[in-house]
Amino acid sequence: MNRTHRLVALLAGSLLISANAPAQQSPASSRPHAVAQDSREEVAFPPLVKRRTLATMRMHLQGLAEIQQALAEGRFQEAAQIATMNLGMSSMHGDQMAEEAKYMPPGMRKLGALMHRRAGEFAVAAQNAAATGDVQPPLRALSQVTQTCVACHAAYRLR
Ligand code: HEC
Repeated sequence: MNRTHRLVALLAGSLLISANAPAQQSPASSRPHAVAQDSREEVAFPPLVKRRTLATMRMHLQGLAEIQQALAEGRFQEAAQIATMNLGMSSMHGDQMAEEAKYMPPGMRKLGALMHRRAGEFAVAAQNAAATGDVQPPLRALSQVTQTCVACHAAYRLR
């Protein structure tokens, strides 16, 4: 979780608390209520951009699955290649990335850039592992990638 995101979460949390303050809640009802509350920031994308973004997201998830399988089978070069093609800077058509970025709040844009950078770091770690046979550094780098997926999903949703 980076600082921006933590701030977003804190702000959203305190807004929720103050909004709920006047109403006394029984402990039993507080949990479903908390789930019903969605504190993620809603981001408006035009319909076509949203559709393309979600398609890219599904490609990201497929990429993660393929990377994990490749790592488990010691196919390190392949893992690096999948990361570069599915998650890295060159994974999307430049136009699409620029189009999406136009509609993103700054914190979201930062998380997107961070994900692509970490995917690049993973690719380097996986390439090194092809020589060393040590799966631990690429696994660690991959968990850094996944953490950016989680951070962005916790903070933002699309309208
Ligand atoms: C910069 C922000 C950001 C990053 C980074 C990000 N996502 Fe997403 N993702 C979103 C948003 C926003 C949605 C829409 C969520 C909503 O509206 O409820 C989404 C939706 C998805 C969906 C649902 C797609 C659909 O068809 O509904 C999947 C799957 C997904 N992301 C996978 C991933 C994976 C895997 C990663 C990391 C490798 C990742 N995402 C990184 C922002 C991001």
